[in-house]
Amino acid sequence: MKKLIIANWKMNPSTLREARRMFLALKAGVKSNKSEVVVCPPFVYLAAATEVFKSGKIRLGAQDCFWAENGPYTGEVSASMLKSIGVKYVILGHSEKRAMGENSETVGKKIKAVLKSNLTPVVCVGETAEQKQKGDAFAALEEQAETIFGGLSGQQIKNIVMAYEPVWAISTAANSRSCPPDEALTAILFLRKLLAKTAGPKAGQTLPVLYGGSVDESNADDYLRNEAVSGLLAGGVSLNVKKFLKISQSKV
Ligand code: 13P
Repeated sequence: MKKLIIANWKMNPSTLREARRMFLALKAGVKSNKSEVVVCPPFVYLAAATEVFKSGKIRLGAQDCFWAENGPYTGEVSASMLKSIGVKYVILGHSEKRAMGENSETVGKKIKAVLKSNLTPVVCVGETAEQKQKGDAFAALEEQAETIFGGLSGQQIKNIVMAYEPVWAISTAANSRSCPPDEALTAILFLRKLLAKTAGPKAGQTLPVLYGGSVDESNADDYLRNEAVSGLLAGGVSLNVKKFLKISQSKV
């Protein structure tokens, strides 16, 4: 299976001009990669990205969407709108959105809307530092996953990508507090067990489960090396095109 390497640009870069420069550099660098490369820029740059990426190997993703298709929802963007401009993946349930009020129920509604538009949701789960300290990490993962899966059929679950993003390991690359690869693996295997329980043993084995949290060019291979880790959701490092390309060309 090809590894899935997703760039989450978050609220960066500051100008369309810079975003276009990055799209072009990425396109030039992603040719016959062993991995599938997805770039998730802010909404406002998506249309420009579709122009650059319409030929080539890079797939486009969004960082969120709303659950309704259209209507009086000021500031929101629907899955069908994203589909209409060529987006393929939608990140949902990111901890930075959860910190702003998103919860597993709303994530569940958004997943359904994304699946209805035939897009692939990239569903993030992960424990906070406090939950980890209290020894509640697995309970937190289970609670998030079960609330999300609870509203979905086994068939729907088979079309999602999961991402384990321990909240305490996000944006910590600068002070070296990334998640040790064996801990990431243990959590991913736990998520695979939960997937197997709800969608069958095959789904538990084969559904993509990614790791995200302070991935950089020096630790990426350590996460990717294990077969159970289907790929990476990269934040900060993805803003450095050279480093992100290096990760996407990993040989492990
Ligand atoms: P960092 O790689 O910057 O820690 O961000 C991870 C993340 O949140 C990706 O979605």
